[in-house]
Formats: sequence, structure tokens, C-alpha cells
Amino acid sequence: MPIRAWFPTFIYQEPLQKSGLDRLNTDLADECRRLRDYDAAGRRWSEKNYPGGYTSYASMNELHRFSSTFSDLEKKLTRHVRKFAHSLDMDLRGHSIRLTDLWVNIMPPTAAHSLHLHPLSFISGTYYVVTPPGCSGLKFEDPRLDRFMAAPPKRSGARRENQVHVTYPAEAGKVILFESWLRHEVAANRVAEERISVSFNFNWS
Ligand code: NI
Repeated sequence: MPIRAWFPTFIYQEPLQKSGLDRLNTDLADECRRLRDYDAAGRRWSEKNYPGGYTSYASMNELHRFSSTFSDLEKKLTRHVRKFAHSLDMDLRGHSIRLTDLWVNIMPPTAAHSLHLHPLSFISGTYYVVTPPGCSGLKFEDPRLDRFMAAPPKRSGARRENQVHVTYPAEAGKVILFESWLRHEVAANRVAEERISVSFNFNWS
């Protein structure tokens, strides 16, 4: 067919490292739960803004500066972000990339995170620490959705590249990266166990 795809949207998903993920995730999960116990301001903020769950987004969002567990994670994430930026043909010669924010999200049953994007950064992502079977994935929306105007709906079973949403399952040990302007959400967690993830933003200068 004389039709080519242009302006695609790329999403990156890879295991954080080749081995040792179980141990790392056990340590991270402990640290995330300890943080929730310690972070009263974050618990108060979450009551209003993250009902049912806990996030350190508004209270402790530079965890990589204060904890060796999270600064180790920063180093590993930076390698993945470099790879992703390179595959996007971003020209970062003479520049550096930097993790600006890194925060914890704990979602017990019913906690959800509605559609949003990540301002003031260029690549964002999430690393999954605890993902009980059946927990919600990360749902992305076609960034052109508000421009479709009079377009008819897509057929069920539309080809992958023509679908307007895609959901990546949350899998412990995997990192998902996307450009920060790409809107995404997490549907309400329906399973009894907590789902734990670490989210982050990168900028460049
Ligand atoms: Ni997000």
C-alpha cells in the first residue's frame, strides 16, 4: 500500500537489569513502605489528592538525593533514558540529562490515578516494584485524540498502530519510559494487595 506512517509515538519497556531484580525489589518495597510511615505530610496530601493511596509526589520527590537505594536506581534509570533518547534521535551532544524528580506510589485496592502528563521534563517513566497479579497497568492515550474532530470511531480489532489507547501491564522489574507530554492514567487497582511503583522525570541542559 502506498501509505506510510509518520510521527509515531514511541514507548520504551525493558527490564531494569538482567539479574538480581527480586532482591532489589524487596529492598525497594521495604523502603517505600517505610517512607509512607515516615512521611506524614505526604500521607495528608495523598488523602486529598490520591484517594486511598500514598504518593510522595508532593512531599518527597527527590528521593534519589537522600537514599542510596534510590540513587542506585537513578544510575540504572539514567542508562535506560539515554538509550531511549538515542533511539528517538534526540541530539544531546554537549548536553547532559538529569533526573529531576523521583517519587513513590503505593496503590491499595480502589486507588487510581487519573489522566495526566508530566510538565517541565522531557522523558518520564515508571519503575515497577510490586505488581500483584491482576493489578492495573499503565494506559496511554493517542496524543492527537483532541484533534480527531469529525473522525469516525476505530473498528474493534483495529491494527495496533491505529488504536487510540494502549495499556502496558505493570510488571515488577520493568521500566517504562515515554515522552513527558504523553498523557496516561492508572485505572483503579482491583486486587487486594498493594501495587508499588516509582515514577520519575528527566530533564536536559
Ligand atoms: Ni504519570
